[in-house]
Amino acid sequence: MIALGSDHGGYNLKETIKAYLEENNIPYKDFGTNSTESVDYPEFGQKVAEAIRSKECEKGIICCGTGIGISISANKVPGIRCAVVSDTFSAQMSREHNNANILALGERVIGQGLALEIVKIWLNTQFAGDRHQRRIDKITDIEKKYNR
Ligand code: RB5
Repeated sequence: MIALGSDHGGYNLKETIKAYLEENNIPYKDFGTNSTESVDYPEFGQKVAEAIRSKECEKGIICCGTGIGISISANKVPGIRCAVVSDTFSAQMSREHNNANILALGERVIGQGLALEIVKIWLNTQFAGDRHQRRIDKITDIEKKYNR
């Protein structure tokens, strides 16, 4: 199950991604927002991140104007590795090397065609494990140091 979320700045891109998931029979849960009316991105970053942390959803895709604010918010939840991505190479690497569990995209940064390419690659790339797991464990150690 893919958790989807956005603020108003990423709403249209979220809807495009939702249509792509529907066309490809990929299950998702939409955590809002539900229009282009102005809202605050931390709420939606948090909702998606908590759905991943609780294991209700396996991965998340979140959108705001730049992808930055909503990703910073999601990354405050322990266990979340959210990557803001604007190119296909980083989409692949964020899964292979960083085991990113949330993808953040900026509707005002990239076009919808590129965004969907990034989504496809990100959803279809596996974590490579091995030495990369050791590095991710060190990220978890940082969280533990601050009781997160
Ligand atoms: C909203 O205007 C905008 O600040 C937000 O979508 C995002 O880009 C924040 O990082």
